[in-house]
Amino acid sequence: MIRRWLTIAASIGCMVLVALATAATARIMQPVIDGIFVSSDSGQLLPIALLILAIFMVKGFAMYGQSLLTGRLVRFTAAELQIRMVGRLVSADLATFHDTASGRLVSRFTYDAQAVQAAIGNTLTALARDSLTLIALVAVMFWLDWRLASIAFIVFPLTALPIIILGRKMRRVSDRAQTQMGDLTARLSQLFQGIRHVKADNAETREAARSEIQFWKAARIALRQTRVRASSRPINETLGGLAIMLVVLFGGQQVIAGHSTPGAFFAFLTAVILAYEPLKKLAMLNTELQRGLAAAERIFAIIDTEPEIHDRPDAAVLKVGQGHIRFEGVSFAYRPDIPAIRDVTLDVPAGQTVAVVGPSGAGKSTLLDLIPRFFDAVDGRILIDGQNVREVTLASLRSHIALVSQEPNLFDDTVAANIAFGRPDASRADIETAAADAGAHEFITELAEGYDTLVGEHAVRLSGGQRQRLAIARAMPKNAPILLLDEATSALDTESEQVVQAALRRLMRGRTTLVVTHRLSTIRDADLIYVLEDGSVVEQGSHGELLARRGLYAHLWTLQTGDSGPSLTAVGGGRSV
Ligand SMILES: Nc1ncnc2c1ncn2[C@@H]1O[C@H](COP(=O)(O)OP(=O)(O)OP(=O)(O)O)[C@@H](O)[C@H]1O
Ligand SMILES: [Mg+2]
Repeated sequence: MIRRWLTIAASIGCMVLVALATAATARIMQPVIDGIFVSSDSGQLLPIALLILAIFMVKGFAMYGQSLLTGRLVRFTAAELQIRMVGRLVSADLATFHDTASGRLVSRFTYDAQAVQAAIGNTLTALARDSLTLIALVAVMFWLDWRLASIAFIVFPLTALPIIILGRKMRRVSDRAQTQMGDLTARLSQLFQGIRHVKADNAETREAARSEIQFWKAARIALRQTRVRASSRPINETLGGLAIMLVVLFGGQQVIAGHSTPGAFFAFLTAVILAYEPLKKLAMLNTELQRGLAAAERIFAIIDTEPEIHDRPDAAVLKVGQGHIRFEGVSFAYRPDIPAIRDVTLDVPAGQTVAVVGPSGAGKSTLLDLIPRFFDAVDGRILIDGQNVREVTLASLRSHIALVSQEPNLFDDTVAANIAFGRPDASRADIETAAADAGAHEFITELAEGYDTLVGEHAVRLSGGQRQRLAIARAMPKNAPILLLDEATSALDTESEQVVQAALRRLMRGRTTLVVTHRLSTIRDADLIYVLEDGSVVEQGSHGELLARRGLYAHLWTLQTGDSGPSLTAVGGGRSV
């Protein structure tokens, strides 16, 4: 903080020098004209020439210093904003990411942060350097000829009008430009991620054309920004011309009448011309500021959002003994009035394996998401060993849960780093054991660089089944007492599925496991099976009991195995174990 103030102070020091040097440039015109040209005094020639050089050098170095110092301040501030944004976003609710395309979020970090950076830089420079320069030049004008200065001053208030009107316009246009930029980034990132389908469906031309429309839209909005910014030009130039015209008229008359020297006149004219540049910058200030404010608003919208899912002030640390999970009358909805989970009561007894099955869209993944509180239940409660998940700290809750989700999201990092994600301090031996347990060791050693192979964005360099085995391996080093598996083996062939199932069985031993799967054959030996339909539990029991009920489960079983309906012999005959 102190360093920041020092930077600001040093930067302002440089700006003062720039202002003084600029004023001196105007002031020196009087001795140049009167001493050299009017009185032809050769003795003054060299000192004045050297003085001019000195003034320009001081100005040059001061500008250099000021640019560096301001740049430092501005870039560091922008970096700080970006850091705060990313800090907020990683702990934001999962829902935030479902509701906002990632490309839109990315554009806050690039385009919006850039706009804020430009605004701070320009504002600081304009407020300090340009206004100081202007003040110094005005002082020179009054020093040279106060009457003339008062006349030139008539035009100053007139510059305020465009500043206000254009600023308001700029705010509106900038807001749209920033939204459009977000759309564009989102569109591009989705396009590249889905490029396989674009090609498969011969949609290259169509998709390129759709992007083209967006690019033109962005260009048109950007052009509007340029137009707003540029429309201050004619007004400013006219006012500048007016000021100079007044000076020439009245000042020239004074010189002709002998009330003033040509040197004083030229010095004054120089001051007016030099004052024009900072005045213009000040007039533009508001438009830049509005652009930056529009961006800052979007950035702070992120920084200021409090995650809805957070620790209660009195949150305790979750103590897991056996790991009994209980849902009591739990309901949940992503959107009001469209329930995804309806009044679900279920038990996952400690150390046992419980399966949740049901048609697609029944709410199985949603049910799993409620346990680590990726979403909070709207109604009812979820207990782990008698402790409500909402009353314990998120960190302690999640540290006791290992999750293999339906989409195995891997990071563009090495195989080893991906496996060790949940426990970064895992040794290489731990990592290899985990891989072996997940049936992944063999294929990993066949990769070009083994465990140090980079898997690529979304692990594109691995097959679907390989990805899934890595996702399973990742769940192992964490050694959590509660295991949540969502379609963990759906992408595997029968042979590797058997390997992985064996590994999972080892992993499940002694842990409370909740398994979601479509393949009913993999959960035949689960201790208990819940059948979910449309968010509600419709059946529950062991495999044998459910078959005997001849309900939804039996129906799904028949569809999958081709058994023409569960005969009682099949139920009684060892199939269920
Ligand atoms: N982020 C979300 N926002 C809004 N609705 C959602 C969201 N995720 C899921 N849903 C809806 O909630 C319902 C349950 O989805 P869920 O993913 O839990 O189903 P599932 O049983 O896991 O299905 P599948 O077997 O296909 O994986 C679905 O109707 C789905 O459309
Ligand atoms: Mg699912």
